[in-house]
Amino acid sequence: MLSDTNPLTEAQVAQFRDEGYLFLPDAFSPEEVAALREEAVAIFRTDRPEIWREKSGSPRTAFAAHTYNEAFRLLGAHPRLIRPVEQLFGEQLYMHQFKINAKSAFDGEVWQWHQDYGTWKRDDGMPEPRAMNISVFLDEVTHINGPLMLVPRSQRHGTLDAAHDLTTTSYPLWTLDNDTVTRLVDEGGIVVPVGKPGGVLMFHGNLVHGSAGNITPFPRKIVYLTLNAVSNHIRTPTRAEWIAHQDFTPIEPVADDSLMEFARRYRAAAE
Ligand code: SIN
Ligand code: MN
Repeated sequence: MLSDTNPLTEAQVAQFRDEGYLFLPDAFSPEEVAALREEAVAIFRTDRPEIWREKSGSPRTAFAAHTYNEAFRLLGAHPRLIRPVEQLFGEQLYMHQFKINAKSAFDGEVWQWHQDYGTWKRDDGMPEPRAMNISVFLDEVTHINGPLMLVPRSQRHGTLDAAHDLTTTSYPLWTLDNDTVTRLVDEGGIVVPVGKPGGVLMFHGNLVHGSAGNITPFPRKIVYLTLNAVSNHIRTPTRAEWIAHQDFTPIEPVADDSLMEFARRYRAAAE
């Protein structure tokens, strides 16, 4: 069911529509995020087909953890993430993609400049850019450990020509050429939202973004939910179900305190 209360202020909605992104620091408490972070570390230690590794062997991305891990199941249906996106899209949502990006200390590799909707459209047959990327910081994201870089207002240019890069990293990506990025950055600049674990960044499917490698001793784990409007479900999937989901059931948000309750039980069990 759609909520009749709107969590985002008018100013926040305007910022998203104009700039293409919205940053909500402190969306999750240190206790909530500590449980998620520990679970992410445990997941990266396992050997599953849903976990992709860098060329060095260190983890790059763990897909679909919300389907097999209780902490991430609660995060994937959390009202602090679902309600703002329902407000912006005016309809219910399903999970198109769920990933935990490791960006490991010393070994985390680059994510080339791209638009996510470019991939959702070309690889998955998503009709419109009515899916939202939400990142939840599990570690502190700083200017030096491979933060996400965004080009404000670039979403206004629609879906740009891109080339399928299959070689730079272990992960195939539709990437933008240097001239295009230069032109967009001349116009909008680059912003780097940084902050403590528990911060949340939402950005438009056509917002140009990327991140440099992480050669610091500080890991930079971020969870990415891609929430798609149910009516905008993908039409021609080509990727594995655990990368681009084909269950279009609307997400019913869990209780707001459910992740906190989980974190308390988790802590008590560890003591
Ligand atoms: C992405 O763009 O999908 C991931 C970028 C990052 O984690 O730095
Ligand atoms: Mn992306």
